[in-house]
Amino acid sequence: MSHSHEEKRSSGDATEVVKTVTYRVRRYIPEQDTQPRWQDFAVPVTRGMTVLDGLGYIKENLDSTLAWRSSCRMAVCGSCAMFINGLPRLACETQILDLKTDVLEIAPLPNTENVRDLVPDLSRLFEKHKRTKPWLIRSDQEELDQPTAEYAQSPEELESYMQFSYCMKCACCMAACPTLATDPEFLGPQPLTQAYRFTADPRDGGFAERRDAVANADGVWKCHFAGACSEVCPKGVDPAFGNQLLKRELVFRYLKLRKDRPTSPLLAPPEGVERNPKIPEAPEPTVE
Ligand code: SF4
Ligand code: SF4
Ligand code: FES
Repeated sequence: MSHSHEEKRSSGDATEVVKTVTYRVRRYIPEQDTQPRWQDFAVPVTRGMTVLDGLGYIKENLDSTLAWRSSCRMAVCGSCAMFINGLPRLACETQILDLKTDVLEIAPLPNTENVRDLVPDLSRLFEKHKRTKPWLIRSDQEELDQPTAEYAQSPEELESYMQFSYCMKCACCMAACPTLATDPEFLGPQPLTQAYRFTADPRDGGFAERRDAVANADGVWKCHFAGACSEVCPKGVDPAFGNQLLKRELVFRYLKLRKDRPTSPLLAPPEGVERNPKIPEAPEPTVE
């Protein structure tokens, strides 16, 4: 047998329907439903097909009213998180055949209000995230607004917070957190980890401004380190670890074992580098 034939056999035909699964989808259309209901759809599955692809099949062929949120289709934007067979996951990253089941039960993310069908209301998450001031806080505001050069940071300093900066605000961790399930006022893993991400950044000097948001009665001390958040994070952020580092930072600073460090200095602007006129100016910010 030729090599190309072997390859075809092992990789399979991407268009061949290998089985049909049942999508059991939790529906809620506020104009017509007084409460959520379940609806089944038969979805033919091909190799490599994702849960998001299956939702697209339903919308195109079976019921155009089905609603969900998605954008990038490549596990980057974080918008397609939903509760798939008992776990918060990205629909675009989850392959149907990997679930090894004939029934997919799909619901909107837990610990969120439901806007419609599989669309969660994430405004609570964004509000909590904003409370922790997830941006660089420095005294040289003018430089932050109109940068002339870059702030110094070593590769080791970058490494100390980089994994936490991968967060794409998908809310999977918030949906998995048992503390948040029983106490909606708890800040939750995503905002707390982002508070640590900026606190650990050598360019930032905003710990004192951030402390009140994370060290209060609804803050990081409510996290009991069960780690459900880290189990489901699709980006390997490990928010449970971030929360523990934040606790350590609070204790060290409270006991004065760690001093406020100066924010990293501005590097001299690079010499001989001119702006490429072909690169367009950055657009005006669309949010405050
Ligand atoms: S480790 Fe903390 S934030 Fe993460 S799921 Fe557990 S209680 Fe929630
Ligand atoms: S920490 Fe992970 S699970 Fe939580 S919002 Fe960020 S990317 Fe999603
Ligand atoms: S569509 Fe962007 S993460 Fe799934």
